[in-house]
Amino acid sequence: MSKPLTIADLKTHARRRVPKMFFDYADSGSWTEGTYRANEEDFAKVKLRQRVLVDMTNRSLATTMVGQEASMPVALAPTGLCGMQHADGEMLAAKAAEEFGVPFTLSTMSICSIEDVASVTSKPFWFQLYVMKDRDFINNLIDRAKAAKCSALMLTLDLQILGQRHKDLRNGLSAPPKWTLHHGMQLATKPFWCMDMLRTKRRGFGNIVGHAKNVSDLSSLSSWTAEQFDPQLSWKDVAWIKERWGGKLILKGILDEEDARAAAETGADAIIVSNHGGRQLDGALSSISMLPRIVDAVGDRIEVHLDGGIRSGQDVLKAVALGARGTYIGRPYLYGLGAMGKAGVTTALEIIGKEMDVTMALCGKRDIQTVDRSVIAETRL
Ligand code: GLV
Repeated sequence: MSKPLTIADLKTHARRRVPKMFFDYADSGSWTEGTYRANEEDFAKVKLRQRVLVDMTNRSLATTMVGQEASMPVALAPTGLCGMQHADGEMLAAKAAEEFGVPFTLSTMSICSIEDVASVTSKPFWFQLYVMKDRDFINNLIDRAKAAKCSALMLTLDLQILGQRHKDLRNGLSAPPKWTLHHGMQLATKPFWCMDMLRTKRRGFGNIVGHAKNVSDLSSLSSWTAEQFDPQLSWKDVAWIKERWGGKLILKGILDEEDARAAAETGADAIIVSNHGGRQLDGALSSISMLPRIVDAVGDRIEVHLDGGIRSGQDVLKAVALGARGTYIGRPYLYGLGAMGKAGVTTALEIIGKEMDVTMALCGKRDIQTVDRSVIAETRL
């Protein structure tokens, strides 16, 4: 394998190593995948201002997100089934993030549990919460995250029902994988993945199985989500969740100024401008195109973060310039994880950090904290 130089290189390697149904799960958007593509394409439309003859020594990417230190304005996003990209994936990714000095967010729909991740990390990680109808289960999940000393709770607001992703339906996605002929063929061509997976016992939804009542079969993600996720989740629920949690709260999935204002009213610590990586409402605007409007609406009242479409350090710099205090990467680190395990997550972070650092310097800035809209070029084509 040649040394990966870009996130696209990691994606190519991951495609070779990870069974198709799990690679596709990470790589899909809903319906036409138009919003998934727009998230990436709109970053390319934002142009940078080249500056010269400025002192470029002593550069720093260090910042804080919800008051917590980060070596660069990037956190690992919560991603469902991360432990299916590579055996024990969440534990490996959390360790890579901790060593790199950026926050790791564990998804409710992870394979490794909160306790598994806590057992291999020494610094606090963040926990993402999906709210299900079974409130006892949710209260218990919040308490488990507290007991594991998670330092922020991220509440996802944009997945009360699941957007349709055609690839998952066609692949018959399930975790653990079913042993039909179709799935067997997909697995048989990925021997390294299978060998690693046979060595771990973590192959189901670690946060859920054995904790939620009446959950015997998680094989179909879409039917389970339809049964369990609460389609009546409301702003009132944000209030009791905030109260029960009692710590830093991040609201994920805001794409509209009116919703951003309502989110700021809750007293949460940050919002994430996000369309769930184009996996929910296909046809929604890209995250980066909505960021400036949302920052103008609430940026003086709440920290604004962004996810969706980041494939390089340049994209992070553009988001920061347009007002994001921090950003999240999902697919870029999953590609690294699928390609090379923990080392691949570190490689993804290194690639993004290096690209951001060089870009910042060539834009005439030395400190990420001073990067603002002045680095964005006006296009007059
Ligand atoms: C879960 O968060 C998903 O988008 O599949």
